[in-house]
Amino acid sequence: MHAVPLLDGSANGSPAEVPIRDLRRVTIHPDYWYPLAWSREVKRGKAHGVRFAGEPIVLVRTESGAVFALEDRCAHRQVPLHAGVVDGESIRCCYHGWTYDCTGRCIDVPYLGRERLPNGVRSYPCREVEGLIFVFPGSAVLADETPLPDLGSVANKAYKTRRFGREVKCHYSFMHENLMDMNHQFLHRRQMGQMRARSLGRRRGEGWVEVDYTFSREEGKQPVGEALVFGGGKNGGQSGKDVMTVRTCYPYQTLQIRTSEGTLVMDLWIVYVPLDAAQRTNRTFGLLSIKKPGIPGVLNLAWPLLVWFTERIFKEDRWIVEAEQEAHDKQGADWNHEVFPVINELRDLLRECGEPEAPGPA
Ligand code: FES
Repeated sequence: MHAVPLLDGSANGSPAEVPIRDLRRVTIHPDYWYPLAWSREVKRGKAHGVRFAGEPIVLVRTESGAVFALEDRCAHRQVPLHAGVVDGESIRCCYHGWTYDCTGRCIDVPYLGRERLPNGVRSYPCREVEGLIFVFPGSAVLADETPLPDLGSVANKAYKTRRFGREVKCHYSFMHENLMDMNHQFLHRRQMGQMRARSLGRRRGEGWVEVDYTFSREEGKQPVGEALVFGGGKNGGQSGKDVMTVRTCYPYQTLQIRTSEGTLVMDLWIVYVPLDAAQRTNRTFGLLSIKKPGIPGVLNLAWPLLVWFTERIFKEDRWIVEAEQEAHDKQGADWNHEVFPVINELRDLLRECGEPEAPGPA
């Protein structure tokens, strides 16, 4: 393996004077609300095992329909609670039947009675919003003062929303870079034809960075699937005057397209939740909201085509970010030579907002 200095991401690729953290090893900050499952995955009276950055968590939907989250291990012999049985408003371990309530307190050991109850397990703050189950994996005392994210147009009846997501084998930072860097349209040339993105400017504030783009078509016709997602226009996927804004507001990301009249025609909210302790795999949760056209039912009819089109784009994106992760793993360091200013700002933001580095051995 070559010994390579970490670069500061500057356009000339010269090594930074002070080595900086390898972004691909920056762990995501746990003091935010993260969706860990879709509501439909956690059925009434059932338990469902999920993970956040290597931490096993069980989501329990009680018989009344409420959801709570506990660490996914029984305090007795450490077996996963997701294999247990929901009993009213609590979960009973599958092995000896120790029972935990929504706070993680052990409320029953069948063969001891309720007088000498052992310690319970950790509970996590948990909320259910718009078909997503959010958990606060960090310091529980911060949960109440940390707002849930704004999920965009999902609750607006003027929009139809596609909920999508899957596992992708890469660090979450590759996902942020991929969506924010619209210069990668070349990757999608078979799906979208030759498009040219032009950056109109970028802005940065505390905890966020965003960039505006317009697009023009250089070659070929606009595919029908793309017209459904982005709207038609004589210059291609967009009218040439429409503006796309991509924003990372840590740890979430949004992509919005507005017409020249200011109408929001597409509104994407997305987050990449690390699954393993090394954060080399993430689960993506996305809400893609499309403004309904004036003629009722048209969008419903066209929906399968829209799904097909977005799946193809996502497949290409997944393939390329996994290739980036593989390269990083082989090289053992971040050799990326980034030249686009907003991506360098994004990289800085992800480093600054990520979990602080654990102190090394004294
Ligand atoms: Fe859970 Fe014994 S291992 S009750």
